Amino acid sequence: MINIVIFASGNGTNAENIARHFADSGTVKVAAMFTGNPRAKAIDRMNRYGVPCRIFTREQWNDPIEIVDELKRLDTHLIVLAGFLSVVQPAIIDAVGGNIINIHPSLLPRHGGKGMWGMHVHRAVLESGDQESGITIHYVTEEIDGGAILCQRRCPVLPGDTPETLAERVHALEYEALPTTIEQLAARLQ
Ligand code: GAR
Repeated sequence: MINIVIFASGNGTNAENIARHFADSGTVKVAAMFTGNPRAKAIDRMNRYGVPCRIFTREQWNDPIEIVDELKRLDTHLIVLAGFLSVVQPAIIDAVGGNIINIHPSLLPRHGGKGMWGMHVHRAVLESGDQESGITIHYVTEEIDGGAILCQRRCPVLPGDTPETLAERVHALEYEALPTTIEQLAARLQ
């Protein structure tokens, strides 16, 4: 069994989609979700699937010895950042041997880096006049949105799009591509 731990900060629709996808899997187990936000809707979403949630404090995040211990206790093979907004400490990346991926709602390297998350990204895409957007799933390194790319999917930017309508189109790509990418990585990790 490949154990994955999801990190999420907010709404958690991707986290829920992963939990649903692997609920009956014989090969991948969502062992836990970690968050720094006690009000994250992602917590309720994970509860529906019986996925335990760990809420860490700012202090625990800044000096992540307890988080690393917990990842080891869960025998974590892969961390998935699914709407996670903090920069990840090298100690956490090392704890899983670099097996940590992030989903970003644009075609990196476009519209990535500090401050580029969620609706900020969709606004930036619309303001730039780009004709297409999409998603990127990539390994996490110390450089924000800078790790090797595993998967990209594209969608058009349509006339009259708002950040909300574009976000919906991009989310649909995320719901399809993230579980598939996790399956592919899990097969390699077995
Ligand atoms: C997703 O679109 C994800 O790509 C994005 O936040 C959203 C979270 O939605 N992540 C980033 O912007 C990271 N830089 P969700 O909480 O409903 O899954």
